[in-house]
Amino acid sequence: MNKVTVCRKAHFNAAHKLYNSDWTDARNTLVFGKCSNPNFHGHNYELIVSVKGPIHPETGFVMDMKELKKIMNEEIIDVFDHKNLNEEVAEFENLNPTAENISVVIWNKLRPLIDKKLELTVTLYETPRNFVIFSGE
Ligand code: NI
Repeated sequence: MNKVTVCRKAHFNAAHKLYNSDWTDARNTLVFGKCSNPNFHGHNYELIVSVKGPIHPETGFVMDMKELKKIMNEEIIDVFDHKNLNEEVAEFENLNPTAENISVVIWNKLRPLIDKKLELTVTLYETPRNFVIFSGE
């Protein structure tokens, strides 16, 4: 069976601060650099959601992209865009909002809403050069 990966890109701006409260300020600065700035800072996040599976014989689709767009907008963009992730998104109340952790949170939000037969991968760019990939493993 031919399996095809369909992908949709989206974008959100969000602020964050990376900080481990068990550490001294000096150690936080050493490890997280500018991302530990106590006054927060923003990133232009680029999100790519990839869904892999067989082509449905009746539609010719792997997944209806209108539906994927709707899910991404409602579950991710409406929740994250122009927000302070540490203070306004419940999942990060006690979780450092690194790109790694954000990708896992996004995957966990989307997974229940996409057909179980389809493989889901989240790719998240925090900067044009730094990005992470999470496939649920
Ligand atoms: Ni940062």
